[in-house]
This record gives sequence, C-alpha cells and structure tokens, in this order.
Amino acid sequence: MSETVKSEPLKKLHIKTYGCQMNVYDSERMVDILRPLGYEVSGEADGADLVLLNTCHIREKAAEKVYSEIGRLKELREEKTARGEGRMTIAVAGCVAQAEGAEIMNRAPAVDLVVGPQAYHQLPELIARTTRARGERLSADFAPEDKFDSLSAERHVTGPTAFLTVQEGCDKFCTFCVVPYTRGAEWSRPVASIVAEARSLAEKGVREVTLLGQNVNAYNGDDGAGNESSLPLLMEALSEIHGLDRIRYTTSHPNDMTDELIRAHADNPKIMPYLHLPVQSGSDKILRAMNRKHGRQAYIELIERIKAANPRLALSGDFIVGFPGETDKDFDDTMDLIRQVRYASAFSFKYSKRPGTPASGMPGQVDEAVADARLKALQALINEQQQAFKADLVGQTIDVLFEKRGRHNRQAIGRSPWLQSVFAEDADHLIGQIVPVKIIGLGNNSLIGELESVPA
Ligand code: 5AD
Ligand code: SF4
Repeated sequence: MSETVKSEPLKKLHIKTYGCQMNVYDSERMVDILRPLGYEVSGEADGADLVLLNTCHIREKAAEKVYSEIGRLKELREEKTARGEGRMTIAVAGCVAQAEGAEIMNRAPAVDLVVGPQAYHQLPELIARTTRARGERLSADFAPEDKFDSLSAERHVTGPTAFLTVQEGCDKFCTFCVVPYTRGAEWSRPVASIVAEARSLAEKGVREVTLLGQNVNAYNGDDGAGNESSLPLLMEALSEIHGLDRIRYTTSHPNDMTDELIRAHADNPKIMPYLHLPVQSGSDKILRAMNRKHGRQAYIELIERIKAANPRLALSGDFIVGFPGETDKDFDDTMDLIRQVRYASAFSFKYSKRPGTPASGMPGQVDEAVADARLKALQALINEQQQAFKADLVGQTIDVLFEKRGRHNRQAIGRSPWLQSVFAEDADHLIGQIVPVKIIGLGNNSLIGELESVPA
C-alpha cells in the first residue's frame, strides 16, 4: 500500500517492543498494517491514540514489566482525555497476549484489546470494533499462514538492515521454555514469499537481512516445486538478489545444524561468519534435564566442524544459570565449555520459573544468591572473551556496513561481519554501503575504525 493513502487525519501510534528480534519484526509489520489507516509512528506514548505493547513471555520479569507499563499508560490516557484530545486505545500484542490473554483482561481492565502473535493481521478490524466495545481478545490457534498471506511483501524500510521472519514456532520443548506454547509448532514460510519480501527490501536499499525463526535452522518451507526447501537452499536463493549482500540467521538449535548448512558457511560468501548457537549449559546432566537432546561433547565437536568449514566464523550463545538441580560442578562444566569454545559474545540469564513448563515443577530449585553469583562469574568470563575477540581485530581491515550517523559531525556507525558496532569519522556519505575499514582502536562496546581510502 502506498504512502499516499491518507484520507483520514493522522493518528498517533506508539509501539513498545519487548523481547526478541521476532517481536521487532512483528512490530514493524504492525506499523505496515496500520499506516494505511492513517496511523503515524510516535516515539512517545504521551498523547498517542493507540498504544501497542508487543510483549515477551520468555522470562518472568519480561511479563511483569508489561503490567507496570499498563499502569503508566492508564494515567497518560486519563491526561489525554482530560485535555480533550480523545481516548487512547491500549492494546497488548505478542507472547504475553497469547499465553495469558484472559488474565490480562481481568488483571488490567485498562486494556482494550489483546492480540496474539499469529492474529495481528486482524488489528484493523479489532481496533474498529473496540472503539465500540471493549474486550476484544484474539489469539489465533497458530496459523501463521493466514497472517503471512495477508501481509504485503512491501515493507517500510528505515535503514540498510532488516529482519525477515522465515520460520515460527518450536518443536524442541526444552523444559524451561514457553516458546512451544506461545508460538506453537514449527512452521516455515514458502520460499517464494520470503524471496518477494527480500526483493522488496533490497529495492529499497536494504543490504543485510537477518532471517528470523525460533528454530530457524529447522527451516523447511515449500520450494514452489512441491519439495521442502532448507535454510542453506533458501539462503542460496536470497543470495541471487541484487544488492542484498549480507545474510544472517537466528536462532538455531545445535541438532538442526546440517552438513549442508555448515558447508554453506564455507561456500556462500553472503552468509556472515557469525553464528548464534545456544547451548544453555555445559553439563550433560543439566542438558538432559533441559531436554536439549544433545550432550556437551556433541556440541563441542559440532563447533569444531563449523570452525573447520569457516575459520573466520565466530560464535555467540545463550546460557541459563541456576536451572533446577544445577550444582557447583555443573556450573563449572558450563564455565569450562565456554573456555573451550571461546565466544565472541553471549546472552546469559538466571533461570526463571515459567508456569506450565516442565522445569517449573522440578526439585532442586537453586538459591537466588547462588544463581546471582554464577551469573556474575559467567558474564565476567564472556566479557573477557568478547574483549579479546575485539582486540584481535585491531590492525585488521574488515568490511563494515554503515547504518547511521554518529554523534559527531560526519561520523558514521556501522556493523562488522561479527555484529560489533564500528565508529568511523568522515564516513556519513557511506551510509548504506559496505566498505573496508581499518580497525584502529576499541571503544567500550565498539570498534573504532578509519576509512582505508576515501572514495571520491
Ligand atoms: N529462564 C531463563 N532463561 C530462559 N530462556 C528461555 N527460557 C528461559 C527461562 N525460563 C533463555 C534461553 C533462550 C533465550 C532466548 O532465553 O537461553 O535461548
Ligand atoms: Fe525454547 Fe529454543 Fe528450546 Fe525451542 S529450542 S524450546 S525456542 S529454548
């Protein structure tokens, strides 16, 4: 739909996104859906006509934040009404909406409507209905087909990088995780619809896509000839798109790292040499209790095979400390695995008990203070490895995709192949381009670069 369809007066839409990158993608698609109805995005909730909270259910804190935000919004709504500016509609989307939609309506009467992650394409109807009566609640029974069928391939683009959902749901059922319940069974989009969306992104200047899925390397969408495709085949098809020069994907499960996918990291130069491959724990006992379906040694050997295929490849991961039954020895096994693998970065979390998951009823819940100490030690080790990885880049010339202006005059900020931010002076004319940059120093969380030669 084109930008010119604006017969109605502009209404302000504020979206607050919690959680993972897929929620970021979903939020962008919700904006795409609502823009033709006359909504324009506002960075502020204050004064907004519609506020959408795109929520995350993965850890307890994430869900609790939503309820406190609703309290704040209720006050902003009252102020807006008192100013005679009309009523603010409050909508809750995302995984909390899916998991506890009815509870939200009871616990937070200020909420007008609740819409799950597979039903947001119906937002226009829902909003129209809630202006008449409160209490719409829509959580689809996991039919992402309907959603993707009704989303246009056209995207509103805000820079040279974009997320692109290719797969949703998870069949792995790790015992701590709510995803199989909130996002449903694994489902893959057909190749053709992904290629169409990627082409539209590339035409608008997108140079890098990150393919998203809760278990993205299990991607097996229809290839259009009645066969199942695979992630390496999909990436091969995307590599043909002119202008699209970088492909990333996240998040993967170790058991779905096929030989073909590993080979693609050697053969397809558009696939970035950076892989997010969570292991969660380095203890075989805990991996079993987590139902991760592989052991510690299998993971280490897998990493060796991937690094043999592409020696420039760096890894990131996810770790959970304080899973029920985790002893000091189990935690030492995790630290030891981290030392063996050497990560370029990683996310780490304290185990959080999620209602309805098998782990929530397991004996041996770990003392909060013990879990805190383990998390601190693990993060210190990861931080050390992250700094060491960055220090190794000093003196090297690497490709940087410049994404936006920096704070100084003519400074630009881009990304390395391994996702570090790179700052370079006199580079603002290169936004949207991939250029070689010499790394000359380290910032706090970034690299300092210098242009090799300034193109005319
Ligand atoms: N507690 C703590 N961390 C969790 N994760 C998922 N569920 C939980 C939980 N119940 C973490 C995992 C996963 C990441 C997205 O969030 O590490 O890979
Ligand atoms: Fe959750 Fe990932 Fe395990 Fe699936 S593989 S259940 S998304 S942690």
